[in-house]
Amino acid sequence: MEHWIAPSILSADFSRLGEEIRDVLAAGADVIHFDVMDNHYVPNLTLGPPVLASLRRAGIDCTIDVHLMVKPVDRLIGDFIEAGANIVSVHPEATEHLHRTLCLIREGGVAPGIVFNPATPLTVLEEVIELVDLVLIMSVNPGFGGQAFIESSLGKLNRAREIIAASGREVRLEIDGGIKADNIRRVADAGADTFVAGSAIFGSDDYAATIRAMREALA
Ligand code: DX5
Ligand code: ZN
Repeated sequence: MEHWIAPSILSADFSRLGEEIRDVLAAGADVIHFDVMDNHYVPNLTLGPPVLASLRRAGIDCTIDVHLMVKPVDRLIGDFIEAGANIVSVHPEATEHLHRTLCLIREGGVAPGIVFNPATPLTVLEEVIELVDLVLIMSVNPGFGGQAFIESSLGKLNRAREIIAASGREVRLEIDGGIKADNIRRVADAGADTFVAGSAIFGSDDYAATIRAMREALA
């Protein structure tokens, strides 16, 4: 599967969000990672469906990868699909009925993803692998940008890659948290094909140079 670089807008300048997104796309980003936080499931608060809808109205037509860190999650899924999400990912801890939640996303016509926190075992993955198009491994505890990469995520990527391979399905394996040009190769070698990077990209002076450095490390 081709590598995707997915800048997380959590570290963008929110006062110029549309411009920031156009800039990273022009700089070579493949998809935009849209972090949704509720100050309940995670201790931070970010963006809701109206923000996504207004980006779509402004003509932003790239793939938008919505990472829902909200609990309960089901009620917001339809709103994000209607607003223009292409991928919607959920944490198993944020729903009482994961199977139903993943089906809701699929029935809405977009790609379902499942997200594993650093301390969450992959055990449920085998039960729902047929229902997802993306597996997201958190390499930080969710809630904030700019945290340090947790090394044990590499082993987890390996194990998730094995479960995906055994399923025979085309499922993306995404990594989120602390990704930079200097560790992206190691996470790719562990099995990741989709790389979220917030502070590494939006915190840099030259988005194109940063994304280029990531692609060179991957090459
Ligand atoms: C954290 C979010 C991440 C965050 C990553 O809860 O899910 O997407 O933006 O930020 P960096 O790349 O700075 O670790
Ligand atoms: Zn995220």
